[in-house]
Amino acid sequence: MKVVTTLEDLRHARAALPGPVGLVPTMGYLHEGHVSLARRARAECASVAASIFVNPTQFGPSEDLASYPRDLPRDLALLEAVGVDLVWTPPPEVVYPAGFQTWVTVNEVTQHLEGAQRPTHFRGVTTVVAKLFNAFRPDRAYFGQKDAQQVVVIKQMARDLNFAVAIVVCPTVREHDGLAMSSRNAYLDPAQRAAAPVLFHALSAAATAYAAGERDAEILRELMAGIIDAEALARRQYVSCADPETLQELYGPIQRALLSMAVYIGKTRLIDNLVLGDM
Ligand code: PAJ
Repeated sequence: MKVVTTLEDLRHARAALPGPVGLVPTMGYLHEGHVSLARRARAECASVAASIFVNPTQFGPSEDLASYPRDLPRDLALLEAVGVDLVWTPPPEVVYPAGFQTWVTVNEVTQHLEGAQRPTHFRGVTTVVAKLFNAFRPDRAYFGQKDAQQVVVIKQMARDLNFAVAIVVCPTVREHDGLAMSSRNAYLDPAQRAAAPVLFHALSAAATAYAAGERDAEILRELMAGIIDAEALARRQYVSCADPETLQELYGPIQRALLSMAVYIGKTRLIDNLVLGDM
């Protein structure tokens, strides 16, 4: 496995990789969710590349950039074990050199859900992912359903800007109690960790109600909100039942829907989602 930090070394190493090349973009502190993307890429592509970069531009001013967990040696060992061929670990000044002033913004699907709570977040995500696509020129790029809106936004960007990359979406990997794996789970103390599966419980309860015939978006939202509010350590930021493509909030009877939520457990902000109906 080749590990490079400069853009020049990356371009060199990339040129030597047999295609198709699969790319797994990450911010590091890898867990089984990230590893599942790398494994899928390994199964589907001749070469697998990954990036580890805690992207400062996707964090808001009061968010956790400084405390975001990092463990590069462990991350590299995990990627090596999956058989990844090339890893880029650029320092911030390689991605954002002095004088940087070009941004990629997706207008509409960024307005809802996460984008409504984190107004500059997706501009940072699309800008860095566009730079990663340009640097790696991957044939396929692997993303997790865990970040459902991120997938919608990146697909829109790839379509709009003619990136010749197939976006592959991989299922959310969960702990045994349903908690979606996340680098931020490391922030939780034992009591908070015990409370954190409430997100999955709320989503599952709505999915059960849907399976039993409930189709009213407002009733599904209220059902989820009630379960979150019954957990003393949880503070709900939003609970949504939205159109899976436009991400607009739904009202009245639904067929397909993206159920999603952001919930604070102490100071830690967790997100999770589930899709109802045929994908
Ligand atoms: P990060 O949070 O490190 O996640 C990297 C990739 O792993 C994303 O595609 C994310 O959806 C996926 N992932 C995270 N947890 C997962 C889980 N439990 N199951 C399945 N997949 C999971 O997402 C980012 O980084 C950044 O925004 C990035 C795309 C790298 C741009 O900076």
